[in-house]
Amino acid sequence: MSGTITFTMIKPDAVEANNIGPILSMINKAGFRINAMKYLKLSREDAGKFYAVHKERPFYGELVDYMSSGPIVAAVLSKENAVADFRKLIGATDPTKADEGTIRKLFAKSIAANAVHGSDSDENAAIEASFFFSSLERN
Ligand code: CMP
Repeated sequence: MSGTITFTMIKPDAVEANNIGPILSMINKAGFRINAMKYLKLSREDAGKFYAVHKERPFYGELVDYMSSGPIVAAVLSKENAVADFRKLIGATDPTKADEGTIRKLFAKSIAANAVHGSDSDENAAIEASFFFSSLERN
């Protein structure tokens, strides 16, 4: 069984639309435990650092502006096969392509304002979780 943790953010659009509760409820009902969680607003600089892997992409500037435009919820989640199962739960990056019943299909507004982030590998889950949380903050 591969990796047991993944990292998520509930993005500014979903926080603004009052969807923190429904999204966390779907996450819990899908069998994920919340090991760490915080509500915060990213600076432009920190959003840029978090998404540095996308630096060369045409949408990088828009992504950084957007992710620093309002508060987010960052969380570490655990479950067997967490990364793959969470990506199934959230659906495709582009909400118009996301399956029915997925978090992005239900709550995302656009490809940029797509409600939630989910790690794409065990390695990135560990890096992303460490970006927001020290080992003392994770249980
Ligand atoms: P996320 O899973 O957080 O990882 C990178 C983010 O970049 C992605 O979700 C989208 O919100 C954003 N993104 C990806 N492709 C595009 C695009 N073509 N235009 C704008 N934003 C994008």
